[in-house]
Amino acid sequence: MLKGKKILLGVTGGIAAYKSVYLLRELKKQGAEVKVVMTPMAKEFVGKLTFATLSGYPVEEEFFDRQTGQWFSHVELGLWADVFLIAPATANTIAKMAHGLADNLLLTTYLSARCPVIIAPAMDVDMYNHAATQQNLSVLKQRGNIVLEPNEGELASGLVGRGRMQEPEQIVEFLERFFAKSQSLKGLKALVTAGPTYELIDPVRFIGNFSSGKMGYAIAEELAMRGAKVFLISGPTHLSIAHPNIELIKVVSAREMHRKALDIFPSVKIAVLAAAVADYRPAEVASQKIKKSGDELVIRLVKNPDIARDLGKLKSTGQILVGFALETDNELQNAVEKLKSKNFDFIVLNSLKDEGAGFGTDTNKVKFIFSNGQIKDFPLKTKKYVAKDIIDQIQDLLERQ
Ligand code: CTP
Repeated sequence: MLKGKKILLGVTGGIAAYKSVYLLRELKKQGAEVKVVMTPMAKEFVGKLTFATLSGYPVEEEFFDRQTGQWFSHVELGLWADVFLIAPATANTIAKMAHGLADNLLLTTYLSARCPVIIAPAMDVDMYNHAATQQNLSVLKQRGNIVLEPNEGELASGLVGRGRMQEPEQIVEFLERFFAKSQSLKGLKALVTAGPTYELIDPVRFIGNFSSGKMGYAIAEELAMRGAKVFLISGPTHLSIAHPNIELIKVVSAREMHRKALDIFPSVKIAVLAAAVADYRPAEVASQKIKKSGDELVIRLVKNPDIARDLGKLKSTGQILVGFALETDNELQNAVEKLKSKNFDFIVLNSLKDEGAGFGTDTNKVKFIFSNGQIKDFPLKTKKYVAKDIIDQIQDLLERQ
């Protein structure tokens, strides 16, 4: 399964470094080509010679050769790899990665790598649970790195808890799935809308909504992970995303989002519309800040373009268009109406009645509704896993074309 895949294995200074030797052997057995980069501390746990012998390549660890003065290019390493797997990743290296420090070759390679990065943390339970580590991991995840959550169990310190690096077999299995998937949408283009839109009232005020953009960003990420080229048109959010397959197009208002979506849609195979677009905007935008006067202020609103409806009209055979519906009442009936009027292939319904679903949360509980009346109901999941379900469904439709 891993035949010919180029894996850069980063080893940092934790006791789990010994497991990386088994991991390296397993990767080689599966046909992968592996180069190893170590931090100076990692060498204290396992010798360079072990990794060099098993990988068939010299181990990279210094910025330059002290005897010849030859400079080792971290950029080359990052460009060579299909994936950069850091296992084990200590709390220290994770913290440095999150803050962009670059005081060893592993870190400079990380900063310049263009390939996906997979991190397998290994540390003591209290270090893992510490707010600083959790925050660092969450920053790395937000930036598009994949974190292989550590297992629970007995730790080197004698304590029991979460912090054990995933076993080599688990990591290899993950990589097999990762590479199998990373090819499945290769060559296809996709459009995703995400986040809220802001409709200006005056230079300092707007009409908006509570959409966080998390669902749309998760969908863009999943599409990119499977090899699609993604145009992510996003309203204002606090999220960041970095994946070589994603082109982030930032917009503010519904009309801007509409223009960009109409431009891009004819060139894509798949479009998923997860944005919470404001249906109305102020008829006039005041050029100066509106001053307080009187007891009432009336703002006249006019209708915004319906992006989904316009794309639905443009849709040609073979294109897949997926929309969302967020409903508080008559949900099924409303969702079916939207599905039909906007010409969606299916609609993802989230009900505000379900706890953990909808705006701002990390989780969502959805139903897929199809034009033939079929309904698929899913349990509460993180948005990342909801995104996987949505893309699996799209792939299913593509396979049936
Ligand atoms: N949508 C869109 N452009 C709009 C409004 C909605 O592209 N101006 C898309 C959303 O991204 C979503 C779907 O249409 O995929 C349904 O959005 P929703 O706001 O639930 O539907 P509306 O048609 O606006 O209906 P209502 O607000 O009346 O429920």
